[in-house]
Amino acid sequence: MHYQTILRAATAVVLLLIESVVRGQSSTYTNIYTIPPLPAAPTFTSPLAVSTSVPPTGPNLSNGLALTPPLGWSSWNGFGPNINESLLRDTIDTIASNGLKEAGFVYVNLDDGWQRYPGNRMDHPLEADPVKFPSGIKALADYAHSKGLKLGIYSGPGQTTCAGYTGSQGHEDEDAKMFASWGIDHLKYDSCCAYQLAPKSVVQQVILTMSQALLNSGRPIVYHACHCGWADSWEWAAQYGANQWRIGQDISDDFDYPGNRMKYFFDVLDLLDRGNGLVQYSGPGHWNDYDMLIIGLNGKSQHVGAGCSNVEYRTHVSMWAMVCSPLLIGSDVRTLNNDSMETLTNPEIIAISQDPLGQAASTVGVGDQDGGDLQVYAKAMEDGSFAVALLNRGSKTADMSISPKRDLTVAWDKYTVRDVWKHETTGPYDTPYMVEVISHEAKILRLTQVVANASMPLL
Ligand code: GAL
Repeated sequence: MHYQTILRAATAVVLLLIESVVRGQSSTYTNIYTIPPLPAAPTFTSPLAVSTSVPPTGPNLSNGLALTPPLGWSSWNGFGPNINESLLRDTIDTIASNGLKEAGFVYVNLDDGWQRYPGNRMDHPLEADPVKFPSGIKALADYAHSKGLKLGIYSGPGQTTCAGYTGSQGHEDEDAKMFASWGIDHLKYDSCCAYQLAPKSVVQQVILTMSQALLNSGRPIVYHACHCGWADSWEWAAQYGANQWRIGQDISDDFDYPGNRMKYFFDVLDLLDRGNGLVQYSGPGHWNDYDMLIIGLNGKSQHVGAGCSNVEYRTHVSMWAMVCSPLLIGSDVRTLNNDSMETLTNPEIIAISQDPLGQAASTVGVGDQDGGDLQVYAKAMEDGSFAVALLNRGSKTADMSISPKRDLTVAWDKYTVRDVWKHETTGPYDTPYMVEVISHEAKILRLTQVVANASMPLL
């Protein structure tokens, strides 16, 4: 497993380095894939007290979209640039018919590799590859719409994109209008390759230019400002009209913590750690993006990772729902097994992800126990309940507990506990709720106050 992982990581990094050399010839800023330091976690008071507002600086653009985190599929993790019309139509058919659409997964997003030309935009137009997409992207969007789904696309502000295809530099208005005329619903605009070393003001400018172009296009298009967790994009991207932004580099398909393999790939736990200091930047219309889902890849990622167990994939999806990350499936939906389908379509997990309050979970309570192996996350829900994750990062089974008074700082005397994976409600309890959590499992619970007199207000 490790040999394969290392081999894949080495291959990926060699490819990335080649890309960065190619990009270096065509862009002002080149890419060396360094890892920015972790932001400090805020001091916890109560999940109810965490602000979801964005800093009051910047151009204050908003398209009013993505009031809950986008759910769907993206081509990159499973297929890299090897995408084509038949794969996309099959994916649309599958999502529309196997229960994923009903669960809420509606975006079908083309990532890098749909374009016709590798090379600089100054030398080539931006067009769909006629061999991969003979009917064109508009026909694909029409097809997605006919099935009740949405179509997303990918570009970037450099001369080239990360995989070396023509970017949008100097043609932002034209490209936004073209995407709108095709019926595109979501744009991943990936600045990380051409602009990793750019000063923040330059990154902000290129994100802003496309944001305004999309707003001027007249079509509602969800805007993903993908900058791989650099230039503190969480602090300002919402003000620049972005609906989501990555908090780190690419995810690996494993739980090999600590990650940062080859100074680039993060595992599930690394990404959770990165997000802990950024909770306050996420909220309705603007989300911290922890990267696309790895569930179902089972070691077949185009990139790094030997795969996870079903428990680990379930923990991954549950935690991404808790922290309000967009949920974009990265695997081949045509071959998802029953375990993966059960995990992805659990309505109680989707309800946590899509809660209208849009509050991303924070770590709470007595803090990390057992040397950081045992963590408790909580998220206030619109109905006054709390979603809670008891996460065991360690290698041994552990007893974990949650107490509303101790950990959530609410004065509840009695409460019930819904185990979202067992689909079972127990209680009422007036003491801490204890449960055994196996290695790499997250127990996902919904805690609700029991009010003796219904006329008494909820705290
Ligand atoms: C990376 C990005 C990936 C994928 C890739 C395409 O920079 O993080 O998610 O979009 O570019 O080339």
